[in-house]
Amino acid sequence: MTEHSITLDVNQRPVRLTVAADAFLVDVLRDKLALTGTKYGCGMGECGACTVLLDGQPVFACLVLAVEVDGRSVTTVEGLGTIDELHPLQRTFAELGAVQCGFCTPGMLVSAAALLATQPRPTELEIRGALSGNLCRCTGYTKIVEAVQAAGDAD
Ligand code: FES
Ligand code: FES
Repeated sequence: MTEHSITLDVNQRPVRLTVAADAFLVDVLRDKLALTGTKYGCGMGECGACTVLLDGQPVFACLVLAVEVDGRSVTTVEGLGTIDELHPLQRTFAELGAVQCGFCTPGMLVSAAALLATQPRPTELEIRGALSGNLCRCTGYTKIVEAVQAAGDAD
């Protein structure tokens, strides 16, 4: 398989990598950059566990080839906040019990962060719409929606 050299910003840090032509972004993030917050669920664009921001827009990293992100900017859940300085969403998800097994959580946080960046006070309908590509098998979604609303209010 042909290999390509790509450069991109990941969580605001410049990165240069060699990737196979058929490598997907989710695998490169996890296996080459050890950014395992991004989860691999379905691999088919169905579950949202692999959601990252590409130039600020949420995308399914299991459907994006790594060569497509050459010269672009990627934000993963690790880029949202730190242990010492949590993103408001990370705090409200924890405080309001919006996390159970946690597998969907990184994708939920990334999708919700994209929403709050453009709509700081979203309605419940807007939140449910923004998270419609992110599946959660545990929570029933209510607490997730409340946590996103609370993070918007907290800003
Ligand atoms: Fe990408 Fe499910 S792993 S959408
Ligand atoms: Fe388990 Fe959402 S918390 S899948």
